[in-house]
Amino acid sequence: MKTLYLRPDVQAEPLFDGWYAWAYLIPPATAARNITERHLRIMDSYISAPHLHASAVKNPKLLGGPFIDYGGGRVEEVRQLREQTMSSRSKLIALSGALNALDEMLATKADGYSLQPLYQEVPPVLRGYVELVYDLNNHPSFRLLESLLYRSEFYDRSAQTVLLSPAARDQRPFVLSTPRLDASDGVHLSVPFNHQIVDALFRLKREPRSWDEILDMFADAGHEKHPTLDQFFTSDPPTPYAPYEGHGVRWRYFGHACILIETKGLSILFDPVISYTYPSPLSRYTYDDLPERLDYVVITHNHQDHILFETLLQLRHKVRNIVVPRNGGGTLQDPSVKLLLSNTGFANVVELAEFEQIDTPSGSIVGLPFLGEHADLNVQSKLAYLVRIGKRQLLFAADSCNIEPVLYEHVHRCIGDVDVVFLGMECDGAPLSWLYGPLLSKRLDRSKDQSRRLSGSNFEQAYDIVRRFRCKYAYVYAMGQEPWLNHVMSIKYSSESRPITESTRLVEECRKQGLEAERLFGEKEILLPN
Ligand SMILES: [Fe+2]
Ligand SMILES: [Fe+2]
Repeated sequence: MKTLYLRPDVQAEPLFDGWYAWAYLIPPATAARNITERHLRIMDSYISAPHLHASAVKNPKLLGGPFIDYGGGRVEEVRQLREQTMSSRSKLIALSGALNALDEMLATKADGYSLQPLYQEVPPVLRGYVELVYDLNNHPSFRLLESLLYRSEFYDRSAQTVLLSPAARDQRPFVLSTPRLDASDGVHLSVPFNHQIVDALFRLKREPRSWDEILDMFADAGHEKHPTLDQFFTSDPPTPYAPYEGHGVRWRYFGHACILIETKGLSILFDPVISYTYPSPLSRYTYDDLPERLDYVVITHNHQDHILFETLLQLRHKVRNIVVPRNGGGTLQDPSVKLLLSNTGFANVVELAEFEQIDTPSGSIVGLPFLGEHADLNVQSKLAYLVRIGKRQLLFAADSCNIEPVLYEHVHRCIGDVDVVFLGMECDGAPLSWLYGPLLSKRLDRSKDQSRRLSGSNFEQAYDIVRRFRCKYAYVYAMGQEPWLNHVMSIKYSSESRPITESTRLVEECRKQGLEAERLFGEKEILLPN
């Protein structure tokens, strides 16, 4: 009987109410704030002046700004999406208002005396979901009972869908500003992310099934035969994957902060953001270049270019353990990564804190401090990692900003020298409001906003890390330059941009000192003898 595979160029976008589902659209409280303060505002603005958006999108200085990228068209569809959001998400819209009102109430009424009487004044929709607290200087705040919010009417899985469409090129609109309106060549599955069809579908990339079985699978998920469904399947088998069987360590760069480490019998994948397979002049590793089983997927922090649901959902069936930074203090700006993943169908989420470790057959994975890059907000969902394999030590610093070199003096005392370091150097990061603006109940002064940025290390800061750990190999990564990531990055550097000049300086200085150094781009493979 003829069997079929899922084609390697099928794009599968997880959506939340028609918007690309990034990590802050899943936890109820951050979703609520993003609906009212980002989505509705952008849609209102587009409906009233679509051509203004069309010209703003063309202006490179406004890249990543709040502008819808549909060339001034599809206004009626945006209007319908707005109306549908207003009616289907009324509970989250009320939650967003209540979070604002709670902040306001605490600011005016919590004066250092007991907070107990104020529970009566918590907005009704939030009652029973918050604990009111002071810090040691009597500044009032609240702690969200996040696991309870996931078990409430505020976590409505019907907002989650998956849009399948043919992927043919790198260029995609920036997802924080442009809703994903239905594509004429797409099949839109109304299934929540934890639905079994998600795993069954992506298993089909390697394990073929008959057309009837595939149709049954879709029927079980409530989707009868769609007239264009067969475009996504092929009888051509994929190239078999050859795992690394040598005695050393092989690492491969998949773009941005995504690195696959393999030793005999062990695979570790960092911050998965992976390209589909389609013709392109820029060579790259794709989903086809992943082992059958991923022993550990490791997440460094909760920014949309490091936790990408689009990729994570496609890997879920082959992931044994997913390692995430421990948090869960109930602050609005720092939703629990463990709850985020366990509520979207990921089993085996392992939380790690600073200096905690997981033992692997050939070494360990150790969580290390990650300072900065979060606009001075109290965000704890971030970790750098040390991977020990045999005698080798590899440090994955992600977007850590070396704002306090003494930290690394302490860390060096604990872990010793490092062979290989991977460092992000986006030293001109976006201002606080770009990512966290919707969470604030009061706008921040422009000058303060501009001073609090999502910046990684500059030359001095990065070189201090390389020198202190006596690294032999230094790689700059996580620079957002691969074109298949522009839908989540919106960064286009020129040769004069500081992240480029600073990282070029680092590479040159390291090479002068006899180190192997490079700013990674596209793809790379290195074999490290053990
Ligand atoms: Fe980041
Ligand atoms: Fe990043």
